[in-house]
Amino acid sequence: MNVIVCKDKQEVAKKAYELLKDVVANKPNAVLGLATGSSPIGLYGEMIADYKAGNLSYKNVISFNLDEYVGIDKNHPESYSSFMHKELFDHIDIQEDNTHLPFGDTQADCDAYEAAMSDVSIDLQVLGIGRNGHIGFNEPGTSFDSLTHIVDLDEKTIEDNARFFDNDANLVPKKAISMGIATIMKSKRILLIATGENKAEAVAAMVNGPVTESMPASILQKHADVTVFVDEAAAANL
Ligand code: GLP
Repeated sequence: MNVIVCKDKQEVAKKAYELLKDVVANKPNAVLGLATGSSPIGLYGEMIADYKAGNLSYKNVISFNLDEYVGIDKNHPESYSSFMHKELFDHIDIQEDNTHLPFGDTQADCDAYEAAMSDVSIDLQVLGIGRNGHIGFNEPGTSFDSLTHIVDLDEKTIEDNARFFDNDANLVPKKAISMGIATIMKSKRILLIATGENKAEAVAAMVNGPVTESMPASILQKHADVTVFVDEAAAANL
């Protein structure tokens, strides 16, 4: 695991973008695994800025998102579909048909998403990390062998995400559909972003702790090509 400590989240975004740019510049039809949450917003900002400067095209890029809430309308402002359009897709030349988000609540929906991904291979997976060490929506206790699955969200996750739902935990969906840990581990390269002091504990456990299903991100120690970009606050316990 290659850990890069940056002075602040702006530098994290810039450095993470250098890696992503390298992947897409070398493979214009690269397959990107994309994440939601506040962590990748700076990276998406860099992608948009450099696209607008005419330096990189996403015309042939394919994307697969990590996760989506169950039971949320795609057009709901807090759906991950809306998030991706607002924060990235609407500002670059990626083709709508080339973007994929998991959707649904049945095993068949999960299997269909997994099958769509197995036709390709994710060249670079972007990840954030939850305070409890989740990646995607793979909460503590998720099997390392899991593929795309339906998840019951952890109390901590519901609490963390209430800020997007009028600070009302009751409004946060209680289930999600998420790539599994084994799905994530299949990607060729992984780029994880974590900023802020509330991530320091999870980052330390991911990097230096035991590899255990109670800390989902710890599995990344077993992946051959992971780069972690953290600011000084998130690196505090390393
Ligand atoms: C969310 C997402 C994750 C994300 C994490 C951290 O619940 N499902 O993909 O990495 O929580 O979010 P944030 O980046 O806002 O801290």
